[in-house]
Amino acid sequence: MRKDVRILLVGEPKVGKTSLIMSLVSEEFPDEVPLRAEEITIPADVTPERVPTHIVDYSGTYTRTSLYDETHMACIAVLMSMPQVTSHWIPLINERTDKDSRLPLILVGNKSDLVEHSSMETILPIMNQYSEIETCVECSAKNLKNISELFYYAQKAVLHPTGPLYSPEDKE
Ligand code: GTP
Ligand code: MG
Repeated sequence: MRKDVRILLVGEPKVGKTSLIMSLVSEEFPDEVPLRAEEITIPADVTPERVPTHIVDYSGTYTRTSLYDETHMACIAVLMSMPQVTSHWIPLINERTDKDSRLPLILVGNKSDLVEHSSMETILPIMNQYSEIETCVECSAKNLKNISELFYYAQKAVLHPTGPLYSPEDKE
């Protein structure tokens, strides 16, 4: 059994990474947030899996090289636009790992309170393309919608990784 879980949030500037963390911690939407939240630790007894969980915020304004270190175990990518995910964020997250040891990744569409159309149709083809994507979530830091679920999925991705059921490359 793992001792703890470290989750990193990445994504475009202003998509709501810091707000998601603050909403999780305070259970209310903060009107103002710092650029980057201090690393927080959720104690084991309040997490569904009973494992202490550290959450690390990545500000869009930080340099590439500080994106993540070896201790991170799962990554939550908060999206604004889909093309950026495949052109920028997934390659950036994957550049430190090889194909067999990818960090599990969760795609997040925040600010669902502002969005009228679900983006699931755009997300599904991307999920099929990258086996490291565990799941995708639409949420709102403002309405507190799916916030605890989001961090639970990330925790679960580390503790109970699901291997790809079907890998297109294996067929070739
Ligand atoms: P950087 O640290 O600059 O990369 O930004 P960030 O991704 O941490 O975003 P931040 O949490 O600072 O939020 C940016 C703006 O979006 C703020 O004005 C938030 O109040 C707003 N915001 C965050 N989440 C939501 C949400 O779910 N709904 C709405 N309507 N606004 C949100
Ligand atoms: Mg921030």
